[in-house]
This record gives sequence, C-alpha cells and structure tokens, in this order.
Amino acid sequence: MLAATAISQNATDPLSGLELRDVPKPTPRPGWSLVRVVASSLNMHDLWTLRGVGHPADRLPIILGCDAAGYDEDGNEVIVHPVLGDPDAGRGDETLDPNRALLSEQHDGAFAEYLTVPTRNLVPKPEWLSFDEAACLPVAWTTAYRMLFTQAGITAGDRVLVQGAGGGVASAAIKLAVAAGAVVYATSRSEDKQAEAENWGARSALFTGERLPEKVDVVIETVGEATWSHSLKSLRPGGTIVIAGATSGTNPPADLGRIFYLQQRILGSTGCTRAELVAMLRMMEATGVRPVIDRVLPLEDIHKGFQLMIDGGLTGKVVIHPPAPHQ
Ligand SMILES: NC(=O)c1ccc[n+]([C@@H]2O[C@H](COP(=O)([O-])OP(=O)(O)OC[C@H]3O[C@@H](n4cnc5c(N)ncnc54)[C@H](OP(=O)(O)O)[C@@H]3O)[C@@H](O)[C@H]2O)c1
Repeated sequence: MLAATAISQNATDPLSGLELRDVPKPTPRPGWSLVRVVASSLNMHDLWTLRGVGHPADRLPIILGCDAAGYDEDGNEVIVHPVLGDPDAGRGDETLDPNRALLSEQHDGAFAEYLTVPTRNLVPKPEWLSFDEAACLPVAWTTAYRMLFTQAGITAGDRVLVQGAGGGVASAAIKLAVAAGAVVYATSRSEDKQAEAENWGARSALFTGERLPEKVDVVIETVGEATWSHSLKSLRPGGTIVIAGATSGTNPPADLGRIFYLQQRILGSTGCTRAELVAMLRMMEATGVRPVIDRVLPLEDIHKGFQLMIDGGLTGKVVIHPPAPHQ
C-alpha cells in the first residue's frame, strides 16, 4: 500500500525527509483493529516529527498522520481517537498516562491506505458527518475542545481570545467557543483570515498583536513566542491562558511579575480523552458546527499540502485521501 513515511529529519528542510513509499499492508495484533483509511488530515505535529522536534530519530522510518476516518474490518464507519494511552495510568485520563503516545509517535500513522490501532480507539462516525469532516477532528478539534471546556471551563458570556485564527486548532476554537455562547476575539496575520474568523462568528478579528477593545477571560494560545506577550496583556486579572502549542517558538519572556500581580493562570493542554471526542461529537450535532476545510488533496500531493502549511497559506484543515486500496 502507498504511505507517506518519515525517513529522516531536517530542522530547516522538513519535507526532504518525507517519502511516498510502497509498504506492506499492516496486520493488527490482538486487541487492535485494522482500519481502511478514507480520509486523514495534516497537522503541525507531522512537521515537528520531520524537523526532529519531540520525535527520536531511532523511531524512523514511521508512517506519519495523526488523524483518520474510515472503515473497520466489519464495515463500520469509524473515527480514530489518536491518543494511545491507558486511562488507569493517568488517573482516569489517558492524556495523563506518562507513556501515552499520539498516533505516528510510536506506531505507524494514518497517511496510508490502512492503519492498525487499539480497538478501544475506534469511535463510531456519526452519519451526519462526512469522512472529510471527521478526519479534521481527532487532533485539532479535540485539542480546541479540551482547551475551552475541560481546561478553561468556559461558559456562555465569557470573553475568549483565539490567537492565529487560520490554524487548524484555532479555527476549531473560534467555532466551538462561538457555539458555546462566548464573545470571541481572534487575531491573524492575514486580513482574509480575519474576515473568515468574523464569518465564523467572532465579534472582532484583529491583526496579530493589535490591542483588543476589552480584556478577555480566556486566551486560547497555540502560536507561542509571536503572540505570548499579547496574550498576557489581553488577559483580565484572574483570567486563564490555555496553551497547547508554540508554532513560532517556545521561549518568550515569561513576564512573571504580570502573572503573579494579576493572578493569571496558565494551563497546558495536550490531546484529549476518548470521552471528550465523543462529547464533542454530541456538541457538534446539537449546534451544527462543522470543521473548516481549506482543501482536499490526494496522498500523492501531500508535500504540496505541507508546503502550504509551512508558508502559512491555509485557513483550516487540509484533508488527505489515500488511493483506493489494493485488494
Ligand atoms: N498539544 C496538543 O495536543 C496539540 C494539538 C494540536 C496542535 N498542537 C500545536 O498547536 C500549534 C498549531 O497547530 P495547528 O495544527 O493548528 O497548526 P496550523 O494549522 O499550521 O496553525 C498555526 C497557526 O499559527 C499562526 N502562526 C504561525 N506562525 C505565526 C507567527 N509567526 N506569528 C503569528 N501567528 C503565527 C497562524 O495563524 P495566522 O496564519 O492566522 O496568523 C497559523 O494559522 C502547533 O504548534 C501544534 O504542534 C498541539
């Protein structure tokens, strides 16, 4: 079967280590299931692996791809929950299992015709959701859901700032927060993406770093160094920043004085539980919220999709279709 495989790592030229290869169809081990992939989607996580960030070189080659929707061996439509972990080892939360791994970290991922995952990680795909939409959810959308509802605990009427509006996580956070009745502000480097954010229901979208009309209760941060100072300054006393990523760098000035004086809270967030994915699907059904898809590409064009992501040219998710499987 055809698969997009990380074969080497390069901090400045990550796509040089991504190869489309013919590999054997996988066989599930006991307790695991074979999934025929109908759709997957790109995440920054794939680029971090190719850059050598957070992924040891001795785990190469490995098939990339953290998101998958497809069919199980019985023909059921499924979404793959991408966090492989033991809830018991994380006090009931598999994302807190010290040995948890995201799909494509320790096991082959979803940029292929088939993948195998623990059967527990299969979630029924609702019929009201297309395969393309379903493939956007497991990483980006569930991360946004956990940041907003589990970590920040937002309620209707909260004021929420989402940094980097065009991103996969950020676009999800804007739509989910609007659906929850929050007053949403967004920032982006691009005027077109600002306009999109307002179309999704943001009260106002501004340029990155621009002063907001009021302080917010919660900041959803995945950009990192480029927006951190603005996130701190935009937060009301006692407010909460939830951070799940740092695309532009991990070491901004901490500004500790502001944090303790204004009693601000900073919470990390990574992945989501299977239960959160199921709850998010219920919320999406109830509210009609759907993912933002920038484009759909065949697996053969995956390099093009990642280049657009590197160039910052995307609004929302890039969905990947593997070729029809060999029999
Ligand atoms: N912890 C977790 O579980 C988890 C899960 C998913 C993602 N993440 C992390 O979260 C980050 C975002 O992931 P993603 O998949 O949403 O990526 P993405 O779709 O590529 O989005 C990144 C967004 O960040 C903004 N951005 C990038 N560089 C910037 C800069 N120099 N200045 C200002 N804004 C900048 C861009 O917004 P504009 O173009 O609108 O300005 C872009 O849309 C990544 O670092 C990823 O690793 C973490």
